Amino acid sequence: MTADAEIVAGLRDAGLVGAGDVVLEPLTGGVSCDVWKVETPGGPIVVKRPLEQLRVAAEWHAPVERGQSEVRWLRRARGVDARIAPEVLAELPVGHAFAMRFLPGCPVWKDELMAGRVDPVFAAQVGQGIAAVHAATAHSDSDRADFPNDAMFRALRVDPFLLYVAQRDAELAPILYALADDLTARKIALVHGDVSPKNILVSADGPVFLDAECAVYGDPAFDLAFCTTHLLLKAVWSGDARLQEAAAALVAAYRRGIDWEDAEALLLRSGHLTAALLLARVEGKSPAPYLTDPDHRRIVRDQARALLRAPTPLDALVSHWQRTLP
Ligand SMILES: Nc1ncnc2c1ncn2[C@@H]1O[C@H](COP(=O)(O)OP(=O)(O)OP(=O)(O)O)[C@@H](O)[C@H]1O
Ligand SMILES: [Mg+2]
Repeated sequence: MTADAEIVAGLRDAGLVGAGDVVLEPLTGGVSCDVWKVETPGGPIVVKRPLEQLRVAAEWHAPVERGQSEVRWLRRARGVDARIAPEVLAELPVGHAFAMRFLPGCPVWKDELMAGRVDPVFAAQVGQGIAAVHAATAHSDSDRADFPNDAMFRALRVDPFLLYVAQRDAELAPILYALADDLTARKIALVHGDVSPKNILVSADGPVFLDAECAVYGDPAFDLAFCTTHLLLKAVWSGDARLQEAAAALVAAYRRGIDWEDAEALLLRSGHLTAALLLARVEGKSPAPYLTDPDHRRIVRDQARALLRAPTPLDALVSHWQRTLP
């Protein structure tokens, strides 16, 4: 049986499709997974199957069990607030594939931002949504036990974003290694691991988070840093002050949701992580594809390097961020 036929058989066994023809229509995206849309009697669904090797320029392997972490995260997040994650319909017995409900008419936030449609209210809802999952799972032994994905988080996040740069930059290496150790050691809440605008759908009910393959029980400061980094990079790319305002709105809303630890301490950790992630997006293994202008890269690199040496709380980092060369 071909892989596609296995998927169709899995959908039949799960009762999602009937005996007739089933069309797997590939969806855009898909660096790390095959993602299809499938019309079913119960409405459109999405089927996602993790790939052994990611479709990026640098060779990058990742365990397929990450499909299982994603399902767990989606279910847990829906338990916190049913509006913020798609409903999982079935786990298929092929390579950790799963089916979820397709959300019609919901653009990807990245596309909205790149098209100049920047809504700080939506950005605030993103901050609020991430914080809600963190607050609900903070200091929870059962959530910690459900997401023992440290090896995966190390392979997909710590190594490519922090250690890859450390290995190539002797001056910043001690700071980056210390940050990586700290990030790995903190077990505070359920982290999504890939809160990027390309993994957020814009629905009428607010943000819907997708693509939780890197979910881990860890440091919530990481999710906040990861998403803010994307907005700051796009602010440099477009020069649009509203992207920086969106970042500020996101951080402020997130901050209001912090009830599990001292907010200042979290924002300081997140600011330091943001500096590292900004640098990784210009010098690391997964560079931002739209930052091709050498001036843009310099603006990001110079600020990121300075911020790594002199950590700044994330709210201050965002308000002082320079979108152009001095
Ligand atoms: N439930 C859904 N409803 C509507 N669209 C969806 C849904 N799930 C995924 N998509 C679409 O498919 C795209 C890819 O999904 P997802 O991000 O989960 O896969 P991926 O392979 O991990 O992608 P990438 O590596 O590019 O981030 C999304 O950007 C979105 O456009
Ligand atoms: Mg994605």
